[in-house]
Amino acid sequence: MPNHENQSDKKCRISNKELNLVLDFGMQPLGNAFLSHQEFDSEYFYPMKVGFCNESKMFQLIEQPEPKKMFHENYAFFSGTSKKMGQHFEKFSQSIINSEYFSNPNPFVVELGCNDGIMLKNFANRKISHLGVEPSKNVADEAKKIGINTLVDFFNLLTAKKILDQYGQADAILAANVMCHIPDIKNVVEGMKLLLSPKGIIVFEDPYLGDVITKTSYDQIYDEHVFLFSGMSIKNLFNLYDLELIDMEKQETHGGSMRYILAHKNQYPISSRLEKIFQFEEELGLGDYQKFKKFSANVEQSKKDLVAILKDFKNDGKVIAGYAATSKSTTILNYCNIGSDLIDYITDTTPIKLNKLTPGMHIPVVSYDHFLRQPPDVAVLFAWNHQDEILEKEKKFTESGGKWITHVPEVKVF
Ligand code: TMP
Repeated sequence: MPNHENQSDKKCRISNKELNLVLDFGMQPLGNAFLSHQEFDSEYFYPMKVGFCNESKMFQLIEQPEPKKMFHENYAFFSGTSKKMGQHFEKFSQSIINSEYFSNPNPFVVELGCNDGIMLKNFANRKISHLGVEPSKNVADEAKKIGINTLVDFFNLLTAKKILDQYGQADAILAANVMCHIPDIKNVVEGMKLLLSPKGIIVFEDPYLGDVITKTSYDQIYDEHVFLFSGMSIKNLFNLYDLELIDMEKQETHGGSMRYILAHKNQYPISSRLEKIFQFEEELGLGDYQKFKKFSANVEQSKKDLVAILKDFKNDGKVIAGYAATSKSTTILNYCNIGSDLIDYITDTTPIKLNKLTPGMHIPVVSYDHFLRQPPDVAVLFAWNHQDEILEKEKKFTESGGKWITHVPEVKVF
């Protein structure tokens, strides 16, 4: 039964204006809430709808479950599971360390949502003073094990005050795939403003709305992603706190992300790159609610196409596996109503997900060994954002006739 608690937030979390409905996905479970048979009765559902605010330009969930339901001591997402992401964070860290903006000889770096320490270890290894703030105890424990100075807490204005008292101002405040998770984001930005040294920088990256629209990657929409940012919305939000967007850098991670660099107002010149990106966003319609209608139609078409292809394979008696039990796949499976009648099992490498069932649709999650020992006829690439890495690893499956299905940028078999 639906048992969401948070029915009141119909307004934009930035401007407090009424939100315009973009898409209604119906009742959805939590993207990462893999469960056992015993937990069926207490499974949590909430109405997942996305809306857009014409004033703040923020694309956001209309309602969201309480953060404590999502980020807790059993949080199932470990950043370190992908090799490519490890390399990405190494480069991310180097870009900060070598940056013209990072000039304090004794810098202090704070990372929001440091997860298992995948980014901060690059600072720790160079003996750079740092602090990771991570609300999910199980992943924070992993960070501590590798020597990352970690505070198990949510970052907000109060936490920022405590950090300031204990450590002083931060020269860089970092976050990766974290800011878009935080409903009370204004409080977080206020905390960043307080903690940031006069010449300090805020650098964060998150899945980019521009990619979601151009690739119809609607699976980026799930409970944890309360926002999907654009340059426009980030500029507006930080401007409220006299923080200035000075640069943006497109990233290929997480299926298409954007890195935002911000500073106190009038501290640094504004990069010439911004003008082009803003122009792209205008042309794509990221500032206008009416333009999202095309996106909604594309999402519905994607659902029809995916279900039709799966049914065709099933009618031919094929075994279909899902490749990676991603949180994104929870949106696809529940929105398209795909259960174990269409997908036999999903394989994943994360131990905590194994021998569990997927949220809502209850497809069994099995080990990677199982996939290797009894390869399916068809694999649905739910971790499409790791496509290159996976196709490289699964050459044998492909060469022996295994078929792949992806839904990004449109549904196809290859
Ligand atoms: P993400 O798409 O949010 O990064 O989630 C990655 C999930 O995919 C995580 O559960 C681990 C899983 N995964 C595999 O099972 N095999 C792989 O080769 C990769 C890259 C990821």
